[in-house]
Formats: sequence, C-alpha cells, structure tokens
Amino acid sequence: MDMEKIKIFDTTLRDGEQSAGASMSVEDKLLIAEKLDEMKVDIIEAGFPYASKGDFDAVSKISEKTKNSIVCGLARANFNDIDCAGKSLKRAKKPRIHTFISTSELHMKYKLKMKKEEVVEAIKKSIKRAKKFTDDIEWSPEDASRTDLDFLYKTIDIAIASGATTINIPDTVGYAIPGEFGKLISNIKKNVTNIDKATISVHCHNDLGLAVSNSLSAIIAGARQVECTINGIGERAGNAALEEIVMCLKTRKDLLPFYSEVDNKKISSISHLVSTVTGFSVQPNKAIVGKNAFAHESGIHQDGMLKHSNTYEIITPESVGLSSSELVLGKHSGRHAFKVKLQNLGYKFEETKINELFVKFKSLADKKKQVFDEDLLALADEERSLKKSNLIELIDISISSGLKKKANAEVKLSYEKKIKLSNSDGSGPIDAVFKAIKKILNVKANLVVYQVNAITKGTDAQAEVSVRLEDEGVSVLGIGNDIDTIVASGKAYINGLNKLILKKDKAEDSKKALNSQAEEIDKHVI
Ligand code: KIV
Ligand code: ZN
Repeated sequence: MDMEKIKIFDTTLRDGEQSAGASMSVEDKLLIAEKLDEMKVDIIEAGFPYASKGDFDAVSKISEKTKNSIVCGLARANFNDIDCAGKSLKRAKKPRIHTFISTSELHMKYKLKMKKEEVVEAIKKSIKRAKKFTDDIEWSPEDASRTDLDFLYKTIDIAIASGATTINIPDTVGYAIPGEFGKLISNIKKNVTNIDKATISVHCHNDLGLAVSNSLSAIIAGARQVECTINGIGERAGNAALEEIVMCLKTRKDLLPFYSEVDNKKISSISHLVSTVTGFSVQPNKAIVGKNAFAHESGIHQDGMLKHSNTYEIITPESVGLSSSELVLGKHSGRHAFKVKLQNLGYKFEETKINELFVKFKSLADKKKQVFDEDLLALADEERSLKKSNLIELIDISISSGLKKKANAEVKLSYEKKIKLSNSDGSGPIDAVFKAIKKILNVKANLVVYQVNAITKGTDAQAEVSVRLEDEGVSVLGIGNDIDTIVASGKAYINGLNKLILKKDKAEDSKKALNSQAEEIDKHVI
C-alpha cells in the first residue's frame, strides 16, 4: 500500500498560547520552536504578529533561527495584520502567511457585521496582499463546520483563485462529529473545482473531546495537513494533540496508510517543556504523554506484561523518548552516561553546562535512590529556565513549623551580588518562605497560581513547583525542583521574580509600541 505524507502544522505557539492563562515569553517560545524544528514538524505557527509586540518579536526571532520548518504568522483579513505578518517573517527561510475570516452566518452577522459579498471581497484582497510577501499562503474560513455549504465551496474556490496554496478547514467551536467532519472534507473535494491546486488542512478544537477523531476522519477523507498542539493545549478545551495524531498514524498503519515526518522520540521532552513553560500540568492519564500512559498497575496487567509486552502495550515508552527501564541513572553513573542520556532525551547543552548539570545530578542522586527520566527532564528544563537571568540567587532556606507551632522561615539569598538575610512568620512554611523573600526584595509580585507536582513516584520524589506571579499587568511563570518541597517552592518563587524583573524592564519599551498599535488593532476588515 502506498503511504501518503501528512503535514504536521504545530500551533502551540499561537492557538496553544490562546489557552486561558498560558502566556509564554519570547524566550520560552524560542525554546519550544527550536524543539519543534528539531523534531521536524512541517510548519510552526509562531504567533499572531499584529496582536502584540511580544508576538511580533517571537515570530521574527523564530523566523531567524528556524532551520527546517516553514514558519507561519497568523493575520486577519486586513492590510495591517497582513503587512505586519509579512514583516515579521522577513528572515524566515520558508515563510507562510495564514489569513482567515469567518464565513458562517452567525459570525458574519454578529461578529463581523458584514454581508457575504463583503466577506468575498475581503478574501480576494487579503490573499492578494499576502502574496506580496510570500507565495505560501494558507487561508481559513473561520467556523467552517457551521458554514452554509454552498457559500463555503464558493469562498474556498475564490481563495484558491486568489492564490491560497493551503485551505484550512477549522472546526472552530469543536462542534463536529467524526463522520460528519470527514464528509465535509469529501464534499469539499467533490464540489470545489480547483481544490486540487491546494492542500486541504484541518484545525479541530476539542470542545466535545473529538478533535483528534475529527482530524483522523478528515485525513481519511482527503486532508493532507493537520493543525495541532503539544499536549492538546489551546483556546477553551484545546486543539487536537500533536502527540496523539502522530502516534495514531504510526501505530495504525494497517488502517491509516499515511505517515508524518515528525520524530516521535522527541515527544516526551517537548511535552514536558510545554507543560513547564505554560504551568499546565499534563493529566496523569493523558494519552501518550501522561505520567500513567505506560504504567501498568493491576496485577493481571503486570503479569501479562511480564509474559509478553504486547499483551497490554500498543506503543512502547521508547517510541516517545522514554527509556524502557525505569531506572536510568544512579549515583555511580559517570559524566559520559549522563551526557548521552540527556542527548537521548532531546537536550543539547554546551560542555560547561553539562558539567554544571552533572554536579546537580550527582547531588540529586545522593539524596534520591533512583533517578528517573522524568527527574532528568525536570533538571534540564529548570536549567534552561534559570539561564535567562540570575539576578537573585537562593543560597539557603531553613524553616521550622509544626502542628502547634507558627511556621517560620529564614532565607539567605544573593541579590545584586550582595548577601541578604531575612526571616518571616507565615500561615504555613511556604507562605513564610515567600514572605521572607519578599521582605528582602521589597516587591509587589502577586502570587496567582501555586502548583506542586511529584515528578516521579515514591516518597523521595522530586517536587516540581510552578508559580505564576503578576505585577502591573506583567505575568510570569517560575519553576523550581527539589526533593524538598519547601526548597522547590523557594526556587520557583525566585525564578519567577528574576523573570518578572527582566520582563518589567522590557515592558516599558513595549508599552510605547503597543499604544500606537492599539489604536488600529480593532480595525478588523479591509
Ligand atoms: O479555531 C480557529 O478557527 C482558528 C483559526 C484562526 C484557524 O484558530
Ligand atoms: Zn483555533
């Protein structure tokens, strides 16, 4: 059977960032884009350049750094958006502009307040404008799955005639059912006469939990590009999960004669990175990337697995980049083994960084009997997060607390190269630590989210703490790992404060640029 390629279009940095509370910094986006490029996704939708200066900067920098993937910027159907996207993609080796406008009655009437003829005109003009910057144009009829079919066919025909090379069919509100969505794609193939001049793409939201099923149904019906996000993050209930689509194609070749070029072995590490950067932990039973995705708990299953792994395992942990044996390294492991392990997990660090990380690993291995892949992923991601700024460094924390005792924390840190000491009571040990740190730095930094996860099993598991801090409209995520939850919390808080200080400095510059953009941002349509 001949296998056909499915292009993987990753929109973690655009639609994924639209998840409530998931804002990512430009540096975070660069890290994710670098990994997406390494894992060979075909297209990276890097942002919506006209929406903010941060998005514009992220798309420009990602354009400059990306080696293999097409870099795409989103634009509404107006010249400001399109010109801005075109500019941000200037340095991309392979730039794509993705422009869209709503085509459903509901959206045209209430959101756009436009007539059908006006929408048609906007499609023609916007695609022609985008063509000035690149030949690679993707066009989407927003809310396609609730659009009148004849009007949908007509707009697709016009978009292709105007120069669109990819037609993306979004199930914007996650309303479609698999059979119905597949039929929509076959109907488009049957009824749009010039459809063979474009690639059909799909973009499914997960409001009814059907985003991946709908995408697969569309592939069977003729779609050759799928839009998806790491861990399925995205607007509301999210988008189709990249890892699920890729592993479905790989696992069920008997029924799905298609392939993607994505390196599935990099799935676990990018999933971890996205979860760390956004602060959205992955639910334990999440397909492919959940903590329990390869855990066999019941005796019957464990017995079956020991006799033959195929009894209960349809994909292996190795296929997504985790090692088969749970214990990967111990306190006697050498530097070389450690370096190779990091590479296998998808990380490339300079030699000096590897040495620093190796020291941290040794100290972890001294405290913890078993060091798992997940421990190393956390160590590496913490390192990447810390490298951005070390204005404030934690030197020591000691606490006293108890059932009948008020919690108290003593904190020692270095700030602007001077050693500072502080002490505070709190309603609990974490509250006391945060208050003691705040006293030294005299910052406002509101704590909006505090989250703690055990990275692996066992009472000696490392705690991974994430905190979201906000100050005057600037929001950052801090992370910290340690065997001691209180220390991990202190590290996360300081990591967040470092980022907040950096970001607030930059925010002043952005504010001026944003003000001039803001006046125009609501001019929606040509
Ligand atoms: O969900 C949607 O319709 C979108 C479009 C911009 C493609 O994200
Ligand atoms: Zn979307």
